[in-house]
Amino acid sequence: MCGIIGIASNKSVSSNIIQSLKKLEYRGYDSAGIATIKDGFIDEKKCTGRVDSLEKILFKNPSAGFLGIGHVRWATHGVPSQVNAHPHSSEEVSVVHNGIIENSSELKKDLEKKGYKFKSQTDTEVITFLLTDLLKNFDLIKAVNKTLEKLNGSFALGIIFKKYKDIVVGARRGSPLAVGYGPDENYLGSDSYALKSMTNKITYLDDGDVCLLTQNKIEFYNSNNKKVNKEILTLSNDKNTADKGTYKDFMSKEINEQSQTAKNCINEYIDHLRKDINLYNFPIKPQEIKKIILIGCGTAYHSCLTAKYWFEEFSNIPVETDVASEFRYRKIKFSNKNLYIFVSQSGETADTFAALDMCKKNNVKTCSIVNTVESSIARLSDFVLPIHAGPEIGVASTKAFTGQLLVLFILAIKISQIRKEINENTYIKKIDKLKKLPDLIKKTLKCQDEVQIIAKDFLSTKGAIFLGRGLSFPIALEGALKLKELSYLHAEGYPAGEMKHGPLALIEEGLPVVILAPNDRYFEKTISNMQEVIARGGKVILISNKNNNIISENIRFTLEVPQTDDYLMPFLMTIPLQLLAYYVASLKNHDVDKPRNLAKSVTVE
Ligand code: G6P
Repeated sequence: MCGIIGIASNKSVSSNIIQSLKKLEYRGYDSAGIATIKDGFIDEKKCTGRVDSLEKILFKNPSAGFLGIGHVRWATHGVPSQVNAHPHSSEEVSVVHNGIIENSSELKKDLEKKGYKFKSQTDTEVITFLLTDLLKNFDLIKAVNKTLEKLNGSFALGIIFKKYKDIVVGARRGSPLAVGYGPDENYLGSDSYALKSMTNKITYLDDGDVCLLTQNKIEFYNSNNKKVNKEILTLSNDKNTADKGTYKDFMSKEINEQSQTAKNCINEYIDHLRKDINLYNFPIKPQEIKKIILIGCGTAYHSCLTAKYWFEEFSNIPVETDVASEFRYRKIKFSNKNLYIFVSQSGETADTFAALDMCKKNNVKTCSIVNTVESSIARLSDFVLPIHAGPEIGVASTKAFTGQLLVLFILAIKISQIRKEINENTYIKKIDKLKKLPDLIKKTLKCQDEVQIIAKDFLSTKGAIFLGRGLSFPIALEGALKLKELSYLHAEGYPAGEMKHGPLALIEEGLPVVILAPNDRYFEKTISNMQEVIARGGKVILISNKNNNIISENIRFTLEVPQTDDYLMPFLMTIPLQLLAYYVASLKNHDVDKPRNLAKSVTVE
């Protein structure tokens, strides 16, 4: 999704802008651009494709300037093209934008009547001309605030000016934005990760904030043009740095490090001596929780679906799950006896943030499970449970998923223990089993050679189906999602018991069907569903921990995963599915870290 950088310095900024834009590449984008103030004029350069292409343009034709803004664009209004790439500049101002301006058509009509000529199909260009117009009559901060008043929708903005040639302005409503404090220069960025190589001193903007950066100071203003003070945070030095190490791409690194990330997470939450879970300061007394509502998007939503089974199994608490983009627009009956849990790797997903914001406005208790502890979602929620997975760069979420599952599992057993819905003995047994999980993940990862062979079968198919029951149902959904995201194949995840109600019609000779059949209470039933698939010519890939040479000679492949407690099987079932998507995409020569059309951090709704 779009990413913004701004730098005000005492030396040329273009190369640092390019390096910081590269840090934002993980978000997913289709074009890139930069604008600096050079000899008193705005110098704008942009292109479709990668930041590397922009860098080549700058190599041939450098952008001097001690101040500038840069952008990676993920198209919303208007196709990916050079003209639609940001920045969008007039003679007077140059703007980069992350978000969507919902009333851009009306604003455009008004501006066209005033004689402004639009070059692009973007919603962003209205900001450029609105500001240009208002700067004729107002000083800088007033003109910016008056522009923002006219905009409906969400935005983070970076702006430079011909007239105010030593100032970069930032503004935020709904989309994330941070400033960073450096020696002799200051920065603006969509996230702290992009700024981390330059500074660890950060301030996050809140909705309605405007900031003004020069080389040696940063000021903040509210929507009434009054100066405000904001806290400066010092970022932690993350041990899990975001480099590929010896891996070919981030995704393979992130899949393979799951044993370690699980260990890190378990060590953060489990007190090994006392055999207990360290979770204090709940925003609501666990004994008083009447209902749990789990909310997320994409892969994070699948971890919510999985956790529903755990909470229902271990506690007597009713659980609902919701996709954030649906939750935020429904007529919800809020209750302060409920716990609303938000799951998000980035902590910046626009729909999840909006759903959380809605809960906050209704004064109910919120908890977030995030990977990025400095994120907007973490900062807004009453209680934060980090997953400690380290930066996840591959657009398709892998280690963050297992991290989310871990924290949700830990939360489910801790809440159930406090409520005395599981006894101490069961509680301690579950903790003991959990401690063995990292080793089991490591063992499961050894299936890579087998999965590579299985992946070849997916090259000649137009689609695939993933089936599971109970805890394996959400994992089937996640397996299908991973395959869609990376291989661009049509993939359906389904509860195996629902096959007869429609999807069985899709089975034809040679269609790959991945069956998740752990040796749990659903095993026999899932195997019956598998036989129905085989009878209709489906090519079955069975994933199970039942080791006695299962069951039908017509299974194309059987992949055996290690034994563990039934409740922990989702962790082990997930890994071959991540690898499958990875290898199918690699065989198809897709960019596994940046699948087409997708973004890591979805900051527009
Ligand atoms: C995007 C990413 C997915 C992710 C989803 C939710 O679609 O590509 O991998 O699951 O957003 O993101 P979040 O950061 O809220 O977990």
